Amino acid sequence: MAAWGGGSVPGVNLREIGQLVRMKPVELNATRRRLARCHDVRDLRACARRLTPRPVFDYVDGGADEELSMVANREAFTRWRFTPRVLVDVSAPDTSAPLLDRVLPLPLILGPTGYTRMIHPAGEIGVARAAGRYGLPYTLSTMATTSIEDLAAAAADVDRWFQLYLLQDAGLNAELVDRAAACGYRVLVVTVDTVVAGHRSRDRRNGLVIPPELTVRSIASIASRPGYWMRMLRSPAIDFANFAAHRSMTIEQTTAFFSPAITWDDIAALRERWTGKLVIKGPLGAAGARRAVQAGADAVQLSNHGGRQLDRAAPPADLIAEVREAVGPDRCVLVDSGIRHGADIATGIALGADAAVIGRAYLYGLMAGGEPGVDKALRLLATQFRRTLQLLGITSVADLRKHGHELLTRR
Ligand SMILES: Cc1cc2nc3c(=O)[nH]c(=O)nc-3n(C[C@H](O)[C@H](O)[C@H](O)COP(=O)(O)O)c2cc1C
Repeated sequence: MAAWGGGSVPGVNLREIGQLVRMKPVELNATRRRLARCHDVRDLRACARRLTPRPVFDYVDGGADEELSMVANREAFTRWRFTPRVLVDVSAPDTSAPLLDRVLPLPLILGPTGYTRMIHPAGEIGVARAAGRYGLPYTLSTMATTSIEDLAAAAADVDRWFQLYLLQDAGLNAELVDRAAACGYRVLVVTVDTVVAGHRSRDRRNGLVIPPELTVRSIASIASRPGYWMRMLRSPAIDFANFAAHRSMTIEQTTAFFSPAITWDDIAALRERWTGKLVIKGPLGAAGARRAVQAGADAVQLSNHGGRQLDRAAPPADLIAEVREAVGPDRCVLVDSGIRHGADIATGIALGADAAVIGRAYLYGLMAGGEPGVDKALRLLATQFRRTLQLLGITSVADLRKHGHELLTRR
């Protein structure tokens, strides 16, 4: 058959059709083609699932025990319904938000996630660079597969935060904090919900081995996920880059690493040592948040670790209002666990948070397309957030903080 406009098909004038319909340019890059078909974080997740061996996908996607908290986290955002304002000029909504002495273009932070290079070799550096392109902070985990120093060198201009797990070895805690300070990390986030490792049911069932090994099981997945394994085999070995003496410990050994004996005294000691901004991240209700502020925290990050630690822990979104009431209007409140859409960010702010923190949302992007996949996740969330403000009849983040609760109804 002839090309557009060339030949003839009985009863059809191809030349006319050719003038009406514009041919879509063919995208030759497979990653870009894949990402172009993702229209929300759910699409990125579906794409990630197709491309990633099941134990690795489940490591990201799964939660603790019966995954009740993980499911409830989503419901805690999606149960809210909006009654928008109408006939407000929303031609230029201001999505910027002041946060811990900076103004972010969007009230959004990329949270800490361990083992990131196992998920995709672009790893922590790729995620941090994508965050930097959007002017958003990136939090490096204690259990990162890129060291504090290497990330600082590769993402020097990014607003870098460092997340600390308090470990049994007090000397090591002090060393990590000092290294983060020396490398220009701006904010220290202390995670207080991991005194022991959560029971990740899917990891147990899948027999997840970290770092991934070529076992009989995994060889079976090579045929169905060749891209993952090709990338993995071409990349440097995965290890815990922050610990010279424990770089290659297994996931079981990490459990013995965390300190189950941490108390508020440890936070007081950290406050003395760290001169930058301090955030306490964990399952904080009103009493815990008040205590964190008394201990010198500049911000509280309401989190149940995405449902990966204490199953049945309350969804953080449900705690925002009581925590805001407890800490007052000016203390910084962050919320994470369950954020998958720009409307979730808007809901969190309308309920009283200053900004939202994401984990899986960017990791799905990373699995789906490496660094450009993280870009895509951030672009989707930014666009959705802006559109939500406009459709709500809200002109700025400050306006949303002030009046948002008037627009919300609980389903
Ligand atoms: C794969 C994965 C690894 C994580 N690793 C860490 C970590 O090392 N330190 C930490 O404080 N939180 C960690 N988290 C929790 C996140 O920082 C964040 O609290 C959580 O992902 C928010 O929930 P969401 O995934 O539903 O957005 C991890 C989460 C995931 C999914």
